[in-house]
Amino acid sequence: MSKSAQSIYPVVWYQDKVRLIDQTRLPGEYNVVEISRYEDLAQAIKTMIVRGAPAIGVAAAYGMYLGAREIKTENRSLFISELEKIAQFLRETRPTAVNLSWATARMLKAAYETVGDIPTLKATLLATAQKIQQEDLETCQAIGQHGLTVLPENPAKLNILTHCNTGSLATAGYGTALGVIRAAWSTDRLARVYADETRPRLQGAKLTAWECVQENIPVTVITDNMAAHCLQQGMIHAVIVGADRITANGDTANKIGTYSLAIVAQYHNIPFFVAAPLSTIDFSLSDGSQIPIEQRNPVEIYQIGETVICPRGVEYYNPAFDVTPASLITGIITEKGTVKPQDLITLKPA
Ligand code: MRU
Repeated sequence: MSKSAQSIYPVVWYQDKVRLIDQTRLPGEYNVVEISRYEDLAQAIKTMIVRGAPAIGVAAAYGMYLGAREIKTENRSLFISELEKIAQFLRETRPTAVNLSWATARMLKAAYETVGDIPTLKATLLATAQKIQQEDLETCQAIGQHGLTVLPENPAKLNILTHCNTGSLATAGYGTALGVIRAAWSTDRLARVYADETRPRLQGAKLTAWECVQENIPVTVITDNMAAHCLQQGMIHAVIVGADRITANGDTANKIGTYSLAIVAQYHNIPFFVAAPLSTIDFSLSDGSQIPIEQRNPVEIYQIGETVICPRGVEYYNPAFDVTPASLITGIITEKGTVKPQDLITLKPA
């Protein structure tokens, strides 16, 4: 089977516009949307045209530039205060993934620290967004390499279970958990990916499976409620997931369903890894109870395609993420190496 990699870039800066692969249409249709206003970019994050913590960070960074270039004033402090409003607007689109506030804070910092006129500030903001994007690509490649060193040694070729989509589509273009899996595939350490379908939005069935098919990575899609059975049957050698926010003690918010997977992995003594860039770690929060959990529209539960599957008169609860306690996590794989959750604090930037 060929191991040639196809490059998938969910966010592209092209001819003064942001181009996004419309992830709501995959795998049926490959559509690219072009965005030139920050309000439309915010809407694209909200509606999950672009999704995945690092990818929405990159998109929001470009959103900051799209907003900045529309600011008319030549007065520096007015410019900065308009930019802060744009940052706030973008941050509010999705509350759980910390990469959004991380990226907008970094863009603001670049503006605060730039000496020069308004055109210089605007040029710096574009350059910073491009840097954030390039760094994420390199960061994910490093995560992939570090991940290889902690995979179980036996068997020689592993079956790895993953949840949601953490690949190129969810980052600048390589992936966190799926990046480790991709690295395992390219070094002959991978037998097969088991992809949880990931109800309600089906990122596993639609996006992870699509990425694997693009790269000839053998993939088996299972429904979420089959995962425990697969682990019990000895079919899975490691579980690797991504993260939307990790607190200082190692508690990890990730796609709903991750927590139950971690419990099952511990019960069956299967290593459970979280792969994430340092930009996903929120050292300002001491534990996972402080992470805001996004609640999404019930339509994601009661309607599949055009078909309504529940009777009228029912109530719904639709949290997009859950929090896995640090005690269930074998290791957190970052671009600086893999640490046990209790040692995460050693990676805190000075
Ligand atoms: O709601 P989504 O699709 O944005 O959720 C994505 C996830 O939960 C991913 O696992 C996480 O963002 C890590 S992506 C590298």
